Amino acid sequence: MLLEKIEALKAQIETLKADNSEALEALRIKYLSKKGEVSALFNEFRNVPPEHKKEFGQRLNELKTLATDKINSLRERFHSQEADETSHLDLTRPSLPLTVGTRHPLNVVRKQIIDIFSRVGFTLADGPEVEDDLHVFTSLNFAADHPARDMQDTFFVAEDKDDVKRNIVLRSHTSSVQSRVMLTSQPPIRIICPGRVYRNEAITARAHCFFHQIEGLYIDRNVSFADLKQMLLYFAQELFGPDTKIRLRPSYFPFTEPSAEMDVSCMLCGGEGCSFCKHTGWVEILGCGMVDPNVLDLCGIDSSKYTGYAFGVGVERITNLKYMVKDLRMFSENDTRFLEEFQAIH
Ligand code: DAH
Repeated sequence: MLLEKIEALKAQIETLKADNSEALEALRIKYLSKKGEVSALFNEFRNVPPEHKKEFGQRLNELKTLATDKINSLRERFHSQEADETSHLDLTRPSLPLTVGTRHPLNVVRKQIIDIFSRVGFTLADGPEVEDDLHVFTSLNFAADHPARDMQDTFFVAEDKDDVKRNIVLRSHTSSVQSRVMLTSQPPIRIICPGRVYRNEAITARAHCFFHQIEGLYIDRNVSFADLKQMLLYFAQELFGPDTKIRLRPSYFPFTEPSAEMDVSCMLCGGEGCSFCKHTGWVEILGCGMVDPNVLDLCGIDSSKYTGYAFGVGVERITNLKYMVKDLRMFSENDTRFLEEFQAIH
């Protein structure tokens, strides 16, 4: 019986094959481990009558050597195969091209806007996206019952209606950075504040729950509406070309008085009227105004000495106008076919 088993196992072991090192390890376990098939025969050896022990012992040892040699030789074949493969590597071959990422269109435009204002002395200021009511609303002259504080527009993080420093929201505009700067420094102040803002809006082609703004603020002695107008004309012409015209329409913001919205002459038809500008010749690009004296006083700046102007530009809005992006969602979907269109623009 034992003899037959030894012969059968021998035949099996002689034909063993393994394609990879895992398969080889499986074979080693199957035959040579403590619970393996060869060891099992050694266990049976105990029952062999003493007169046969010598012969059986010899055969068992031969079987074990055979199995060990076979597995070792398979292993060697393997290693030499691997060595063979590496020797075919051509180390002088040029590597595959590395694809370089592209700047995000919103960053391209943000940089353009920052550059335009940096050239005339504006410096960058920054503030948190998770902000308190004091900076987003109260210090900017929003009445306690102003609709912008409503749940519809603002994401509330931690509500405390009685304490403006503990009523925490996701900032709904970058004007919050204005008040941060005014509360901590004195004029002259000349800053722009780029950043992300959040509003509780359903996501569609024309609205998103987050977008980007750049806020501008200039406060000094004798700053006038004419200064604001001249700065905005410079901005519009740098951004859309020297033939661009601007127009200011009266508007309302709690933190500016007077307030205005600015239109630029349509970049497609040059002001003639086309379907893009709904045949008006104008497209709206930003909100602006003279900083309300109330805001100056609320932020610790003497409104009898200083005046200032402020403006807020939507980065998505400008990008849409400059590059004719029709759907706001494109900006946050990370579709490389869209992003690569901006590869040539810096
Ligand atoms: N904060 C306004 C908004 O989000 C934009 C704005 C309007 C900013 C007028 C200003 C300003 O600084 O003067 O709609």
